[in-house]
Amino acid sequence: MPSVTCVAPVNIAVIKYWGKKNEELIIPLNDSISVTLSTDHLCAKTTVTTNSDVKRNQIVLNGKEESFDNPRLQKVLNAIKDRARQCESVNKDMFEWFINISSENNFPTAAGLASSAAGYACLVFALAKLFNLKDEEEISSIARLGSGSACRSVFGGFVQWKAGVSPADSVAVQLAPASHWPDIRILILVVNDQKKATSSTSGMSDSVKTSDLLNYRVKSCVPKRVEAMKSAILSKNFDKFANLTMRDSNQFHAVCLDTFPPCKYMNDVSHSISAFVHQYNTYRGENEVAYTFDAGPNACLYLRQEHVGDVLGFIKHVLPNNLIDPVAYAKGIPFPKLYQLNESEKATFKPIGSNLLKYIIHTEPGNGPKILVRTV
Ligand code: DP6
Repeated sequence: MPSVTCVAPVNIAVIKYWGKKNEELIIPLNDSISVTLSTDHLCAKTTVTTNSDVKRNQIVLNGKEESFDNPRLQKVLNAIKDRARQCESVNKDMFEWFINISSENNFPTAAGLASSAAGYACLVFALAKLFNLKDEEEISSIARLGSGSACRSVFGGFVQWKAGVSPADSVAVQLAPASHWPDIRILILVVNDQKKATSSTSGMSDSVKTSDLLNYRVKSCVPKRVEAMKSAILSKNFDKFANLTMRDSNQFHAVCLDTFPPCKYMNDVSHSISAFVHQYNTYRGENEVAYTFDAGPNACLYLRQEHVGDVLGFIKHVLPNNLIDPVAYAKGIPFPKLYQLNESEKATFKPIGSNLLKYIIHTEPGNGPKILVRTV
């Protein structure tokens, strides 16, 4: 029975995608750049199965059956089948059979971490393998139809999504593999927040209709930033990488507030984390850590391995947690020995508040999707 199980990574943008020039084809207004995170700590895992015994189309996400009529799901499935019809090697019966899809994330969805990129990258990668498609660029283009940012999760390391003007040139390309900058680390601070934010899809659609700042961002800021970010990554210039990452996150959230009515994703804790990062970098005399925030309150911090213990020591002081057992609180790569603040540092860095984080995930850049199990 043809069945494939794959995993695909989450990616976190350092130059944000926000706004489409074509909603139907998911062609973005601007280029974006992201870092793909290791599937060891954050990933979607998807199994797709098809044969004459499967009695109906079914999709189960994190244990819950969802509608198979979802237009984006239909779009990616049709795109895969259309492409597969052109391949001689595909068993033609497969086009008639129903498909069973089961997908789960290895991180709690309640965490509010962007999961659509990993989810669609994984689904399309698995379907492509089921139907024998091999070309990664083609897989990425089809993933884009599921969720724009998913096209970047098809590649590992540092990835640019070139906006283009049509499906043929709106493509993601790898700028450098994860091994290019091996000491980069990522800390995801999962903020306690029950509120459900406006989805990226509808938030960005509102911004396109109403934000003048978005227009300015796309025309005057992003093109220069993309070039500067590419050079920061290729030359492994962390100071420049950090500066551009924070500025771009801030501008993206400014666009959200310039949207009418405004969409607000960062909360007070997110803003306090951003202020802490600036205070910390000023104290250390250089950009040792950079924040970026997506369409939610969680902070994603980029830093180098040598600074993880120091930064986590300060985070423990400004965001103490005494409710959660330390093992459940510290996820991903084991934490190094934490820096102990001296009395003057304790007095200078004012605590933001207790128990404001759900947990912290410590991870690193990683590779693209991979097959775990395949039966033919
Ligand atoms: C803030 O890819 O989720 O994470 O294309 O409508 O599915 P759709 O949107 P989506 O938007 C992601 C927005 C972002 C920035 C980014 O990842 O670049």
